[in-house]
Amino acid sequence: MSSIVSISRLSKVYASGHHALKDVSLDIKSGEIVALLGPNGAGKTTLISAICGIVNPSSGSVTVDGYDIVDDYRITRSLIGLVPQELTLGSFDTVWDTLCFSRGLFGKQPAPDFIEQLLKDLSLWDKKDSELMTLSGGMKRRVLIGKALVHEPRVLFLDEPTAGVDVELRKDMWELVRKLRESGVTIVLTTHYIEEAEEIADRVGVINNGELLLIDDKQALMQKLGKKQVVVELKETVAQLPEILSKWSLELSDDGQRITYSYDPRNQHTGIAGLLSAISDAGLLLKDIQTSQSSLEEIFINLVKK
Ligand SMILES: Nc1ncnc2c1ncn2[C@@H]1O[C@H](COP(=O)(O)OP(=O)(O)OP(=O)(O)O)[C@@H](O)[C@H]1O
Ligand SMILES: [Mg+2]
Repeated sequence: MSSIVSISRLSKVYASGHHALKDVSLDIKSGEIVALLGPNGAGKTTLISAICGIVNPSSGSVTVDGYDIVDDYRITRSLIGLVPQELTLGSFDTVWDTLCFSRGLFGKQPAPDFIEQLLKDLSLWDKKDSELMTLSGGMKRRVLIGKALVHEPRVLFLDEPTAGVDVELRKDMWELVRKLRESGVTIVLTTHYIEEAEEIADRVGVINNGELLLIDDKQALMQKLGKKQVVVELKETVAQLPEILSKWSLELSDDGQRITYSYDPRNQHTGIAGLLSAISDAGLLLKDIQTSQSSLEEIFINLVKK
């Protein structure tokens, strides 16, 4: 796949002196879904805003389809759709007029059929004549997505598309993102929700303190870093692990009360049943068992902590 967006050594120092982006380089391939994960203040919005030409980078460059975002602003901007993090719709305009107007801003011919389909895809068709200020938050967010798509961009940036959105609507949003990708749109989204990245992204990037700590294939990331654990709590403390348990790589907690078994979840044979019977053969009594999965969440937390 060829790159549609190329970000090269991008840095941003705000007037306050805050270093919000530090030497970020990233290529986004045509047709992929990239999720950028990062805690509050990590620099996600700054990065997206710089790519979309809303924030001037202090150094570095961004090209979209080969055009420079600063030198060829009008062309690059027309290739991009941006759904901002903040809801910014409070006017008396109707949904329909808002989309028609937005399309016009990009110098595109009116396309009522296209807009009708877009509103239907966004489940907003029955709201087309409603004034924006009368819509709920979730509806407004969908109008913003419509606004970002109405000029038929090739890359869509979604800044926290599902923040404050209920579970049902979040799933609809994921469905919509998938449909968009099928129609050929490349998608970059930021999110706090690790499940969201896990659910829809092809690649996941982690940003913290203005640095892109890593970007990798979601599957590869989970495989490289994902692990599952079983923690067995014992009724009585033991000083050391019985010999019979040595074939599993186990860890005994310092207080001698918990045995932790880590295994690769991709293995068909995890050996948990065997381990549990060996523990009882060794004469140890179980008090409780817990399992945990190191998902993207832990991978993410570990990275950010470092
Ligand atoms: N206009 C600005 N002037 C000065 N500092 C700013 C400005 N905008 C953002 N910052 C700072 O830059 C850093 C990154 O902010 P940014 O909004 O990019 O983070 P974010 O990852 O999008 O966070 P969130 O998850 O809360 O949306 C923060 O420390 C923020 O305070
Ligand atoms: Mg943000």
